[in-house]
Amino acid sequence: MTHFTVAIDGPAAAGKGTIARAIADRYSIPYLDTGILYRAVARKFLDLGAKPSDAEAERIAMRLVPDDLRDDRLRSPEVSETSSQIASMPAVRRALKGYQEAFARQPGGAVLDGRDIGTVICPEAEVKLFVTASRVVRARRRYRELQAAGTTVSEAAIQREIDARDQRDINRPHCALRPHDDAVLLDTSELTIDQAVARAVSAIEQQMRAIQLPGAAKLPGDILQQETDLRKQPHGRKNRIQEQSFT
Ligand code: C5P
Repeated sequence: MTHFTVAIDGPAAAGKGTIARAIADRYSIPYLDTGILYRAVARKFLDLGAKPSDAEAERIAMRLVPDDLRDDRLRSPEVSETSSQIASMPAVRRALKGYQEAFARQPGGAVLDGRDIGTVICPEAEVKLFVTASRVVRARRRYRELQAAGTTVSEAAIQREIDARDQRDINRPHCALRPHDDAVLLDTSELTIDQAVARAVSAIEQQMRAIQLPGAAKLPGDILQQETDLRKQPHGRKNRIQEQSFT
């Protein structure tokens, strides 16, 4: 089976997850939200009532089980903040690396989103996207998301949280958030979900054509032949994500 991996990086609430899910759906490849791994470690920490120490965080990261990723409290602002602190610990990143690498290399490929996917976890990914949006737009999106989920927190508080997480992600010495040199940049500030997904699909298909050089491994025909109608989904399913707008 041909390998086809899409690495998506970018700051919090830029639209990475929405785009990644739509791509996974469109090409029928598995998707991993790598932020959920750091969130699960953070949740366990908070449950222990402990202050994150490197050794303890590493121990928790090494023992994560699938059920830890299904905890419905993983999106809370408290977990967001703690996960961002934990993500700057090299031992934690090391402990979570093998799982992400194996996911990226599975037969047929995968879509992963995070902060260091194109640069550290999977620099060999056939397609790398770096998804951004202005800080104000991202805070507003997260605010509406949390509001819809019934969490009461002010937009100003969310802006502060996102700014602090951005700074940590960008400035940490290991696996800092930055685009890979080959990444296609996609700013979603002014885009609806449909438009953002369409740009991502177009970047993917352009990239796949570009690397389909004589002598290169054969690429999956359906990736190059699919219609550009984004509502046409595999198995006749209609993708709800694409009918909504980011904001
Ligand atoms: O993507 P999400 O906001 O859910 O990630 C939670 C935190 O995990 C981020 O603030 C970031 O610090 C960290 N993270 C990371 N590397 C990744 C994914 C997430 O450092 N690949």
